[in-house]
Amino acid sequence: MFRAPRGTHDVLPEEQPYWAQLRQAIQHLCATYGYDPIDVPTFEATELFARGVGQGTDIVEKEMYSFVDKGDEHITLRPEATAGIVRAYVEHGMARRPQPVKLYIMGSMFRYERPQAGRFREFHQFNFEAIGEADPALDAEVVAMAWQLYGDLGFTGLSLQLNSIGDPNCRPAYVERLVAYFEGVQDRLCNDCQGRLRRNPLRMLDCKNPNCQALAADAPRSVDHLCVPCAEHFAALRGYLEVADLPYTLNWRLVRGLDYYTRTVFEVWPPDAGSQGALGGGGRYDGLIEQIGGRPTPSIGFATGMERIVRHLRQERPEAPPLRPAPVLLAFVGAEARRLAFQLAQQLRSRGVAAACPYGDRSLKAQLRVASSQGAPYVAILGEDEIARGQLALKDMATGEQRDVPLAEALATLAALGR
Ligand code: HAM
Repeated sequence: MFRAPRGTHDVLPEEQPYWAQLRQAIQHLCATYGYDPIDVPTFEATELFARGVGQGTDIVEKEMYSFVDKGDEHITLRPEATAGIVRAYVEHGMARRPQPVKLYIMGSMFRYERPQAGRFREFHQFNFEAIGEADPALDAEVVAMAWQLYGDLGFTGLSLQLNSIGDPNCRPAYVERLVAYFEGVQDRLCNDCQGRLRRNPLRMLDCKNPNCQALAADAPRSVDHLCVPCAEHFAALRGYLEVADLPYTLNWRLVRGLDYYTRTVFEVWPPDAGSQGALGGGGRYDGLIEQIGGRPTPSIGFATGMERIVRHLRQERPEAPPLRPAPVLLAFVGAEARRLAFQLAQQLRSRGVAAACPYGDRSLKAQLRVASSQGAPYVAILGEDEIARGQLALKDMATGEQRDVPLAEALATLAALGR
């Protein structure tokens, strides 16, 4: 028997109402904050992610689904959406539009990770990007928008964590200090951090190993080594967050797993994070667009895992809301009635009224069971006797009451009930 590949999952109809609820909340939020939808390809040139996300990151080093296609192109299934969106921004000359260009996307991402609760190899992200503006008010707006999504969906007890990791002016000197500090305690670092010390020293700060965490506690902090413009930007951002009453926590060990970030980084964490990690994360990436061949374009964005949100929505409301109206059911007895029931069902559907007609050769009792299982509020029963009298019997499933309706009025009556 075939099974879905490891780390992937099917979204069965019973889970779809939660996805619909989430998509609706996202669309409403994006309209509120002035974001337009964009779709970009599910795969891109491997080089885009290598340059954008960064060579030393876990994503690029270990997690990408990369292959050479039949035309010898190096292709990667997107592990994240930001690189593709900024590629589209440059390719379509969106710098000529009023800035910032605010775009959002929902879609599949692919990372070869060890599957566990809330961690998949194919998962979905809602991702939004504001491209072309450096104002810290935009940073605050992006943080507020991310925070509002979870509030709109009824999340409570979340934590909003914030940090600034500087820019190419101040970060190199900070990283040097960080490396010098960790070199002093190198023999006590885990194996991964030994490697990170050379490849990606910032990531040593968020290592999960308890020894490394204890060592990181005394490490130098980026916020203490920001250049004046970065420090001013961060102070202004914090001021706006306070004005907007956003309850953020400074987490100087927050560095994010992608290389493109500058200045602002932030994450939203659930109260019971466990192994599944952050609900969402984002930050500023002022150097990314230049890095992939565009002009310097300050930008900021955020992404949240949709599976992680749906998991929460299901826990909160185990009884899924209906996705569609229950149909009027057309039951029948006999061949002539069957044809008439089918005809009525089609006439209703073509008017946009939900209608269902049982299949096969079922007893009336079995057809009524179908009606109950579909939650049909009304059943129209077409029997040989009724047809002979030019009537159908209309049964109200809630009360059990039944009344006759002349066939000539059936369509109008049923259409009115189905609305
Ligand atoms: P990220 O932190 O790698 O950031 O991913 C964002 C969110 O995607 C995570 O917080 C998590 O909810 C979800 N996620 C990541 N990996 C998985 C997985 N294997 N299974 C399920 N959910 C997952 C980014 O991707 C950046 N592009 C965010 C961004 C946008 N920064 C600026 N703009």
